[in-house]
Amino acid sequence: MIIVFSGTGNSLAVAHGLRKRLGGELCVLEREVLLNPSGRVLEVPQGEDVVWVFPVYSWGVPPVVAGFIRKSKIKGAHEAQHFMVCTCGDDIGRADDQWRSLIGRRGWSPRGAFSVQMPNTYVLMKGFEVDSPEVAAGKLASMPERLDTVAAAIRRGYSESDVVRGSSAWLKTAVVYPLFRRFCMSPRPFHATDACTSCGLCSRSCPMENISMAPGGTDECSSRPSWGNRCALCLRCYHICPAHAVAYGHETASKGQKQILK
Ligand SMILES: Cc1cc2nc3c(=O)[nH]c(=O)nc-3n(C[C@H](O)[C@H](O)[C@H](O)COP(=O)(O)O)c2cc1C
Ligand code: SF4
Ligand code: SF4
Repeated sequence: MIIVFSGTGNSLAVAHGLRKRLGGELCVLEREVLLNPSGRVLEVPQGEDVVWVFPVYSWGVPPVVAGFIRKSKIKGAHEAQHFMVCTCGDDIGRADDQWRSLIGRRGWSPRGAFSVQMPNTYVLMKGFEVDSPEVAAGKLASMPERLDTVAAAIRRGYSESDVVRGSSAWLKTAVVYPLFRRFCMSPRPFHATDACTSCGLCSRSCPMENISMAPGGTDECSSRPSWGNRCALCLRCYHICPAHAVAYGHETASKGQKQILK
């Protein structure tokens, strides 16, 4: 069974690629499954592994994924072997240690952990930008071979970490991640600029059902997106907007968008 959370489709593309190679059911974490992790009992078929696929957030496990691991009800999870496949723009620090600890605390068995470099999505701070088209295309072209390696390792029960950690890995995961969680994950700076056409795509696409359309805009009939408080900071709303009208404070004014993968 493959359990996947994905903001802009990178992790979803990896999950589909792994499913082609390994088989099994795909469980996509969004909307009611994500909003109420203990509301539905998932079942791992006998003899199957659980492969957790998600993007790295500030060199750690995205808080929504951590919350799901803590609270979900998964029949057969104690008997299964658990693997992590984490997508990243560059590197994952020690997110694999964090994931192993979350899985271990449930009494489940963590095995191998892998990272897969994919086009970068993070643009909310100075110095962070989407990849150039050439760099993004290069990462996507490398994906199939990387997934062959990851799937083969999962099949033989690999139990180590095959990940790109980057520099100062421990510091980034142990110190920067908690600070990022506390101070840099607020949805408050999200707003729509005057380029908004009121199409509602951001609202319909949000995996957390966090965006409502409220009256606003230039004429009486138009509506504008309004962001609530249960945001995963996945940036789907930002990258999916056809008018590039989703902004985060002033930081995204000159930033690009990344293609959403389906
Ligand atoms: C909030 C946030 C934090 C991120 N932090 C990191 C990071 O620490 N290291 C990294 O290499 N990429 C980072 N990224 C980039 C994503 O992990 C990467 O682009 C991932 O493949 C996105 O997957 P998705 O399309 O499934 O959401 C971050 C992205 C977001 C939205
Ligand atoms: S997707 Fe963009 S254009 Fe459409 S409602 Fe949202 S902000 Fe406006
Ligand atoms: S509001 Fe935007 S960033 Fe937040 S969860 Fe929804 S789509 Fe993702």
